[in-house]
Amino acid sequence: SAAEKGGWDSFMAKEISEEPEAVANTIRGRVQDGTVTIPEIEGIDLAAIDRVLVIACGTAAYAGTLGKYAMEMWGGLPVEVELAHEFRYRHPFLSPSTLVVSISQSGETMDTLMAVRYAHERGATTLSICNTQGATIARESDGVLYTHAGPEVAVASTKAFVAQITALYLLGLAIAQARRTMPPEQIGEQLDELAAVPEKLTEVLESADEVRTLAQSMTDTRSVLFLGRHVGYPIALEGALKLKELAYIHAEGFAAGELKHGPIALIEPGQRVFVIVPSPRYAEELHAKVVSNIQEIRARGAHVIAIAEAGDVAVLPYADDVIRIPLASPLMEPLLAVVPLQLFALELAAAKGLDVDQPRNLAKSVTVE
Ligand code: G6P
Repeated sequence: SAAEKGGWDSFMAKEISEEPEAVANTIRGRVQDGTVTIPEIEGIDLAAIDRVLVIACGTAAYAGTLGKYAMEMWGGLPVEVELAHEFRYRHPFLSPSTLVVSISQSGETMDTLMAVRYAHERGATTLSICNTQGATIARESDGVLYTHAGPEVAVASTKAFVAQITALYLLGLAIAQARRTMPPEQIGEQLDELAAVPEKLTEVLESADEVRTLAQSMTDTRSVLFLGRHVGYPIALEGALKLKELAYIHAEGFAAGELKHGPIALIEPGQRVFVIVPSPRYAEELHAKVVSNIQEIRARGAHVIAIAEAGDVAVLPYADDVIRIPLASPLMEPLLAVVPLQLFALELAAAKGLDVDQPRNLAKSVTVE
């Protein structure tokens, strides 16, 4: 009903507006004096873990890739990410020192549940990141780290995604503490960066009108590409997924470095391409490479929509549109860059008169394998 949507046109619009709280509530009570404490997972000895395997489906799997970057960098251990439905059919190597982290908003996705069971049966340690209290996957795992995004009603996941990334970053820092792979002051710095995200998300949400105008100008678009590099790569994949799910537009996400190995053949005049641009301050080298990708596709007639940090002027000569995000350290950037892409898919679907909360052929939780 309209009341349940709290004045918003859709649950999805409402849920995107709740992203600052979703992140803040997921951090709350888990950080004290620059250290991470997660009482719910104290039963798992993180110091004894030597490898992490992340399993999930859909949007949750893209959160998992960001978790991989964080856990490897901070925790100094190998992390792999795999789609839950692929995982158990390839006879993966598992041992008690392998931490299998499942990510699921609903906690009921059958593909993910079967992967958790498989991992458990083969002696791995299982931890779930879940948004639904008491869900099956949570109950069947050795430990649960709940995301506190609040109930998510719209089929397409938004606030749960940012909460999942937050939870993975907390886990990454908890692993770093347990394995002593990072000096305590650096852990404190990362926690400060994370704590600053909710306010920055509120700032990004102010770009909603600008994104709506852009989306409304693109209702006839038949294909959209998304490019990103490093942490921008899973965000490009998520941007494309959102557009497929909601607006039924053919969309593909690519790693920007892969462009020259194939996807550039798709570029023709008028092709819309979103590019997530890394920070020129933190990632000078990658920034230059992505700007050169933009030049390449622009020279072939692409219409470029850049998502770039405030003050990044290097993109201006080549981008047709620029959506700004506030300054943030590299691992925090994806939490901000995803928002305009979620809003874009929502607004484009709405402009096409589609049901944004209940897209065709999709279910909120897929309880069949
Ligand atoms: C379905 C939904 C997706 C979601 C995926 C995983 O396919 O349509 O939006 O990302 O399931 O859901 P989960 O509840 O396991 O996070």
